[in-house]
Amino acid sequence: MALDIFKITGPTTLAGTVKISGSKNAALPIMASAILAPGKTVLSGIPNLSDIEVMCLLMESLGCKTQTADGKITIDSTVIDKPFGDYEIVRKMRAGICILGPLLARCGKAEVSMPGGCAIGYRPVDIHLRGLKELGAKIELKNGYIVANANGGLKGANIFLGGAFGSSVLATANTLCAAVMAKGKTVIEYAACEPEITDLANCLVKMGAKISGIGSPQLTIHGVKNLNPVEYTVIPDRIEAGTFLAAAAITKGKLKLTNCRLEHLMAVVDKLRSMNVVVEESPDGCEVASNGQIKATDITTLPYPGFPTDLQAQFMAALCLAKGNSVITEKIFPDRFMHVAELSRMAADLRKEGPHVIVCGVEKLISAPVMASDLRASAALVLAAIAAHGETIINRVYHIDRGYDRIEEKLNAVGANIQRLAT
Ligand code: UD1
Repeated sequence: MALDIFKITGPTTLAGTVKISGSKNAALPIMASAILAPGKTVLSGIPNLSDIEVMCLLMESLGCKTQTADGKITIDSTVIDKPFGDYEIVRKMRAGICILGPLLARCGKAEVSMPGGCAIGYRPVDIHLRGLKELGAKIELKNGYIVANANGGLKGANIFLGGAFGSSVLATANTLCAAVMAKGKTVIEYAACEPEITDLANCLVKMGAKISGIGSPQLTIHGVKNLNPVEYTVIPDRIEAGTFLAAAAITKGKLKLTNCRLEHLMAVVDKLRSMNVVVEESPDGCEVASNGQIKATDITTLPYPGFPTDLQAQFMAALCLAKGNSVITEKIFPDRFMHVAELSRMAADLRKEGPHVIVCGVEKLISAPVMASDLRASAALVLAAIAAHGETIINRVYHIDRGYDRIEEKLNAVGANIQRLAT
């Protein structure tokens, strides 16, 4: 693994146009859903990310063939002869677990490694297993693997998918992918409503699945015998877009985002407006402009349509430079605060109390050597570094390459000064 670092010189003010890439979190489960439709599925709008490469590796390890060119991936799932998600691949990316439901539906059995630990905290898989068990799968845990069997076929059921922290995005994806080929009718209550689940459901419908209630917490599915491969374009990445919105706010800049769907960012836009940032819809995207000093605000992360946990760190960075004190509450991953210590090294004034962080606005951030700990925390450090005075070194930027398509190129094109250096 290349251990690149970023050298970022600030402060700079961002201005210009940024094209948002396709959504990572929509692409990953949709790639896995190609397992359900023997033949060639062609997906467009696929971002160029290391997580996507890992997913291709995983699909190939099952017997599929994959081909990538110009933002398109062709997945040939004619042959799936090894329904086995190897630890060596799945440990690199939690989303590897989204092959479980599709494999079970297609092959009647699956063995997938339990995903490993993760810097954002404990992430159990009980809801995934509950959904599949309700559909009739027998599940055992053996040597760190989930061993699932549905020899007699999957059967439709009424399934409640809520957990201690609300709905689960990938557990909904797994249960939905298994249910579309289960015998009879399935009703999923407390389904995740994230746009990435809507995108997966729309792709499955194009393949021939019968799903109603798409976008709501109640999905009704009538099982079908076969699905057909399709051509499908994934939605734009709302988290990448939200990161650039936060970048405009923290640098007091002015950006135009294209290939961006503002309707997926309502909670984020609402917060930006209360922070004194102007956001307006434009054809194919939006325009965001600073209106002077950012104002403090309170943010609580929640399942969609609430404020996304995947933007909590980036907005914390922006609020470090606000006038006044803000409170950030994390309700999805209560330990997702690795960035607090690193932002504090850059002269942010932060106090963590359980799942809350009190952000006292400061006049300026100051450069420092910092460590990227996970994908979104690294994005927060990049934003802080662009706004900070001096030269910041960010170590371990491979975390950011997992989920941002050419972030330094996109930011440099609108005025940032970021150098990627190999160590
Ligand atoms: C997905 C996203 C991730 C985002 C998260 C929440 C992908 C590839 N990843 O992750 O970027 O941060 O949604 O929006 O799409 N939980 C359980 N039991 C389970 C599953 C989840 O208790 O079986 C809990 C989690 O610990 C967490 C909450 O449910 O507290 C939501 O997690 P979940 O929606 O499952 O996250 P992912 O789907 O893994």
